[in-house]
Amino acid sequence: MSFCRITGTGGYLPGTPVSNDDLVARGIDTSDEWIADRTGIRFRHFAAGHEHSSDLALHASRKALDAAGRQAADIDLIVVATSTPDQVFPSTACILQNKLGNRTATAFDVQAVCSGFVYALTIAEKFIRSGSHRCALVVGAEVFSRILDWDDRGTCVLFGDGAGAVLLERSVEPGILASALHADGHYHDILSVPGQVCNGAVSGKPLLQMDGQAVFKFAVRVLGDTAVELMQAAELPMNALDWLVPHQANIRILQSTARRLDLPMERVVTTVAEHGNTSAASVPLALDVAVRDGRIRHGHHVMLEGVGGGFTWGGVLLRY
Ligand code: UT7
Repeated sequence: MSFCRITGTGGYLPGTPVSNDDLVARGIDTSDEWIADRTGIRFRHFAAGHEHSSDLALHASRKALDAAGRQAADIDLIVVATSTPDQVFPSTACILQNKLGNRTATAFDVQAVCSGFVYALTIAEKFIRSGSHRCALVVGAEVFSRILDWDDRGTCVLFGDGAGAVLLERSVEPGILASALHADGHYHDILSVPGQVCNGAVSGKPLLQMDGQAVFKFAVRVLGDTAVELMQAAELPMNALDWLVPHQANIRILQSTARRLDLPMERVVTTVAEHGNTSAASVPLALDVAVRDGRIRHGHHVMLEGVGGGFTWGGVLLRY
């Protein structure tokens, strides 16, 4: 068995920032004060009509390749986490592969909503550690603006579009130290888009619906539990953790999680103010920001955590 480590990161946010006041100006019955106080969100980005998840993914992937000093031809595995794929099929990963000009990699999508990136990263790690692959492009990419109910102020102000990517490569040293993936489909209806394509039409309601308070409580519990599980699996004390990079849904969820873990907020990477909840893209976007601004450095212990629809949750602990 070999190890693997992240060798490059990239992020992409489409268009210009849309402020809370911009949403008010668009006729949504809300306020900057309510959104900022309850969620910490100040801006989000929306893709243009012609931009799909694969386009956002392409920008982020090119940056990750550049950071790793790799070419698209070096990639032998592409895993895209998305709940807003370009089409029913083929996978967004295959569409991205074509846009990158790569014709040989294994390519597929993962659907685990806001936990999608940690699911995809863990799957890619298992491919590499098995010896079958050596260089994986792992992406979280979303255009959640396409599935928002603009008449539901409790959800439409929370989400945005974006993509984040990492290159994961075989290495002689770890790299990824521990990972954990969980799901409990009993909670499938507290966060869902209950629509489907059927006989040439959409049936059901293909717009996001959420029981916000149930999701909030669930997220705080499982983000805390998963952090403990990962540190125990790696036989490290919690104070050995340099950076927590959690799913960026709500600053209050991140603050409650940090409190539960007795972790100072200075060690939690937060980008939710700048892009809102970008679902599967949020963790790699936050990771990229903290790598590029020099906070996350070689040798640091970094924990990535996701939680979202399904319900799904999980995390990856790594030495950067
Ligand atoms: O990836 C995981 C995805 N989701 C999440 O992580 C979200 C988790 N949940 C949350 O972040 C919070 O539950 C929300 C931010 C969604 C809501 O915050 P809350 O403190 O649970 O508010 P609430 O739903 O209990 O609503 C409180 C009040 C209500 O008014 P009344 O009934 O007290 O008069 C809502 O109608 O806030 C009102 N409200 C708003 N007011 C202004 C709800 N949305 C808005 C809004 N602007 N956008």
